Amino acid sequence: MSLQEPPVPTTAGASLVGAVVVLAAGQGTRMRSRTPKVLHELGGRTMLGHVLAAAAPLGAAQTAVVVGSGREEVAAHLARIAPSARPVVQEQQLGSGHAAAVALDALEEVDGPVLIVNGDAPLLTTGTLLALVDAHRSSGDVLTVLTAEVPDPTGLGRIVRNGAGAVQAIVEERDADDAQRSITEVNAGVYVGGATAVRKALSRVGAANEQGEQYLTDVLGLLVADGAPVGGHPADDAADTLGCNDQRELAARRRTMNDRVLDGLMRDGVVVTDPLSTWVDVTVEVAAEAVLHPGTQLRGATTVAAGAVVGPDSTLLDTEVGEGASVVRAHCQLAVVGPEVSVGPFAYLRPGTRLAAGAKVGTFVETKNASIGAGSKVPHLTYVGDATIGEQTNIGAASVFVNYDGVAKHHTTIGNHARTGADNMFVAPVSVGDGAYTAAGSVITDDVPPGAMAVARAHQRNVAGWVEKRRPGTAAAAAAAAAEARAGDHPADDAPGESSEGTR
Ligand code: UD1
Ligand code: MG
Repeated sequence: MSLQEPPVPTTAGASLVGAVVVLAAGQGTRMRSRTPKVLHELGGRTMLGHVLAAAAPLGAAQTAVVVGSGREEVAAHLARIAPSARPVVQEQQLGSGHAAAVALDALEEVDGPVLIVNGDAPLLTTGTLLALVDAHRSSGDVLTVLTAEVPDPTGLGRIVRNGAGAVQAIVEERDADDAQRSITEVNAGVYVGGATAVRKALSRVGAANEQGEQYLTDVLGLLVADGAPVGGHPADDAADTLGCNDQRELAARRRTMNDRVLDGLMRDGVVVTDPLSTWVDVTVEVAAEAVLHPGTQLRGATTVAAGAVVGPDSTLLDTEVGEGASVVRAHCQLAVVGPEVSVGPFAYLRPGTRLAAGAKVGTFVETKNASIGAGSKVPHLTYVGDATIGEQTNIGAASVFVNYDGVAKHHTTIGNHARTGADNMFVAPVSVGDGAYTAAGSVITDDVPPGAMAVARAHQRNVAGWVEKRRPGTAAAAAAAAAEARAGDHPADDAPGESSEGTR
């Protein structure tokens, strides 16, 4: 399932910070993946995409993303989702402090505070960042760090405060003593401060710690030692600050993000019958009074209009569902499902499918690059590829739009109010006119004029008595003999009919 992450929305307006720096160069060894850590996906965006989207409304004039591990991939992704953000290469991953220093050196003059944020905190919200910036501005501190009270601080930097509650330092777990380890207020990895002061302090950060890395977190202790005021702002919702360092944490963050999306939808009046089995990306829009049944996944740029019912067991990628439509046990990608349309159960709508109002795509039907007009029906066991079907037309069961000659794809056009028979092959390029009929079992290779009946199949021939002659002694022969005997008893009731020129 390939999904193109949409661009991070750009916001014009107040610039609350001068620059945003996202630290995204780390290897992410604990993910045990070839994918660079910040490119792991949850809820329809990469981790990096979520962080950038949360920070975008702060209106920074400059955004720098520190890249290192997998830099080509990360930079290419950045160019797609946030082309105005600048990738800054950290050649060697010498630590978060070194990463921040590399970024600050690359920035042009910064007008206002700089927000530095770890690239692996996908649950950060704009609200939390705004509150942090607000706290920073009103405190007059040189640097303010976002903190969180967590029940289990394992692995995180601890916020060390003095008796008066003032932040003194951040101590990484590996370097902490027992007393420090018992602290449950942790560093969220989000900092806002004066660019010049932070840059100066970073130049003094050493690597005399258990990991031998230059820690961004050491900046706080250095500033405090200088007598510069620093602060810690606790996040309202600690979940916002949770990082993501391995696959278990990624799955947990994905679940939290999904819970938040569904909460928002339900508050807005969307019916979610089973939140535990329903997955909706942050980029999806669902209108009030739409119904999402168990096993539904809505991904990418999918939109679902009011009164539509999706599920159970349906996956929609970049798909538009109109008002009052029903999509049951279907897989749909880049499809447009019009109002009052019925899809499924068991349908596969591939890219370029457009179903006009009131159309029906039924059971075991696959469509691709196909426009199906208002009120038209493709009810059973059919492939519609590269086709235009008019309005109020019915396509017989078990038909194939034969679009591929082994080299190129060709188009089939079927008019309005047509009735095509069951088990038809439409060998493209071919057309069936308005109001035309086709006979069951036909292989349509020539255009059918409006109003004509096309019959394109061999005539039936019945070889009388064949079974009794060629399969004597079988149950079939006995059944045939008995039927003949009964017909002999009541010849008037059951006279064998004329072989008909059937066109059904
Ligand atoms: C970091 C913090 C810790 C905090 C936690 C919150 C440090 C030293 N520690 O720990 O106090 O509680 O985040 O999640 O910062 N990075 C680079 N270049 C490097 C090294 C790291 O860009 O050379 C980036 C990473 O991609 C990541 C961020 O910096 O986005 C933090 O690095 P990570 O290794 O995740 O630090 P944590 O151990 O999570
Ligand atoms: Mg981390």
